[in-house]
Amino acid sequence: MARVPTGIPGFDELIEGGFIENDVILLTGGPGAGKSTFGSHYLYSGITNYNEPGVYVTFEETPGRIMRNMWRYGWDMERLIKENKLRLIRVDPIAYGRYIKKTMEPDKQEDHENATLETVLKQIYASIREIDAKRLFIDSMTSLKISPDPVNVRHIILEFIKNVESFDCTTIITSEVNKDPNNFSVEEYLAEGVICLKVFRIGGERIRSLEILKMRGVKHDEALRPYVITDKGIIVYPSESVISKEADVFSLERFSILGEE
Ligand SMILES: Nc1ncnc2c1ncn2[C@@H]1O[C@H](COP(=O)(O)OP(=O)(O)O)[C@@H](O)[C@H]1O
Ligand SMILES: [Mg+2]
Repeated sequence: MARVPTGIPGFDELIEGGFIENDVILLTGGPGAGKSTFGSHYLYSGITNYNEPGVYVTFEETPGRIMRNMWRYGWDMERLIKENKLRLIRVDPIAYGRYIKKTMEPDKQEDHENATLETVLKQIYASIREIDAKRLFIDSMTSLKISPDPVNVRHIILEFIKNVESFDCTTIITSEVNKDPNNFSVEEYLAEGVICLKVFRIGGERIRSLEILKMRGVKHDEALRPYVITDKGIIVYPSESVISKEADVFSLERFSILGEE
């Protein structure tokens, strides 16, 4: 089976060299965990190291803001777009919200034509075809969940992932962290893999760690591994465990605080 390396230093070792081609991988984590950075790093490295064009779909930040943020890591997205190696698509969350409202109240005629699930999917697929993209990053799934009706949300997520799976792209989709660890969401079941970014605090220090919850068909690492965000993107430490690293640094009582996380 062909593998797709993320190119993120230290990460691919955790998953036998890379994702399985055309899989859909879910990346979860709270705000500031590094989800957008991880996805951009994956796309950027795909283009520059593996000659694989990529599509970045954002439901949240504007393309201008994304390009500015990525510039801080030294990644020139504008140039890659001009060279037809990258496409940046923004789905307007307000128009999308109107569409969801419309599906809830079908008698209300509102303008939602530019943001139905179908048009969003068509737009993504058109960009993929345009540059023959092999990698897709969607940031984030949370924006698709704005309907108050859980059955509607489930249907949207199912429909969305089913379509994305047919795009012949190796895909990362982000999602805000799941609050209830015993109650997995539908996308966590549907995705081939789930990567969880966790940020916690010990004393005054912020600890970033990463766990691969699942990766179907891959003999993946199961430990909590530290990662850092630098001015060149993400670095994962695949042979350092967060627990043992912290045990060296912190006293035993602090160690027990970590255990409660
Ligand atoms: N050059 C940098 N060096 C170190 N950390 C950085 C740098 N740029 C951003 N960060 C960190 O990355 C975080 C942003 O990550 P981001 O990918 O936007 O998170 P998310 O998408 O999960 O909300 C910031 O909160 C900041 O702590
Ligand atoms: Mg983000």
